Amino acid sequence: MKEEIAKIKENSTTEIANCGDIKALSDLKVKYLGKKGELTLVLRGMGKLSPEERPVIGSLVNQVRDELDIIIQKKEKELKRQELLKKLETENIDVTEPSKKITLGSLHPITQIINEVEEIFLGMGYKIADGPEVEKAIYNFDKLNTPPDHPARDIQDTFYITDDIVLRSQTSPVQARVMEEQKPPIKIICPGAVYRSDSVDATHSPVFHQIEGLVIDKNISMTDLKGTLEMFAKKCLGENTKIRFRPHHFPFTEPSAEADVSCFVCGGKGCRVCKQEGWIELLGCGMVHPNVLKNCGINPEEYSGFAFGFGVERIAMAKFGIEDMRLLFENDARFLKQF
Ligand code: DAH
Repeated sequence: MKEEIAKIKENSTTEIANCGDIKALSDLKVKYLGKKGELTLVLRGMGKLSPEERPVIGSLVNQVRDELDIIIQKKEKELKRQELLKKLETENIDVTEPSKKITLGSLHPITQIINEVEEIFLGMGYKIADGPEVEKAIYNFDKLNTPPDHPARDIQDTFYITDDIVLRSQTSPVQARVMEEQKPPIKIICPGAVYRSDSVDATHSPVFHQIEGLVIDKNISMTDLKGTLEMFAKKCLGENTKIRFRPHHFPFTEPSAEADVSCFVCGGKGCRVCKQEGWIELLGCGMVHPNVLKNCGINPEEYSGFAFGFGVERIAMAKFGIEDMRLLFENDARFLKQF
């Protein structure tokens, strides 16, 4: 048996020494040291030996096993190193080769305008508020002093989910939500998508974006509203922009107004963008109606406020010279990457 072990040792040592790759080496490991390997078989055959011989042979087998283990490990290291060297020799990277071009996207024009308006109002101490697009009719209409028979509530104009739930037709419901949740002083703007049952054409879309503004505090008056909007118009549309107010009606403000800005393309002389008028209609605004304050838990004897709301698409179109609103929603990358 001793000779048998010596033979195994000799054969395996030569085979390992001559072995040329990792896979063959691991096969050899199985062949000699594995569960059914040659050395293991020797151990199994020890039953035939005399009790005196057993420990001798046993420890011999273990010794050979340890030796082989070490030789295999060494060989493995050596083979791995050789493999690496070969790889380094054959694979070379040309660091001067031009890289693949990475094309960067750009922000959508609507997002750009929203970001810009947010920056302006954040600079004036406003916070950004948010509200759901699937809104309770009570927030979209009732709390905003818009009674059940008001034409804006007609199914011709508004998308109803149920009798009580609508796709918000304006960002104004966020006013009501904020007033219910926060105590004055309140100074927020809220940008977001709104929905109306309009057919698609160059100036209409069933989904578009608005930015709402709300300020509630003690002694807020129409002059604060005018000053704020004038400042905003100059920052957003250019220092020379003039603003004018025309009386109007909204259920949630009293008095209400619409504000126009002098055309920031022609400076007021008249051009295609302002349809030769010199003015562009910008937004709706007014002093928050006392009923709205009451509906939202604010005492109109103590507090007053102003609100305004405007469409983002209209500003984006005028600012970027886009003549068809559909382009803003088709999301053709060739169009969008111009901005
Ligand atoms: N929600 C109005 C609309 O969609 C715009 C508006 C007008 C908002 C006056 C206001 C406001 O906050 O005070 O036409």
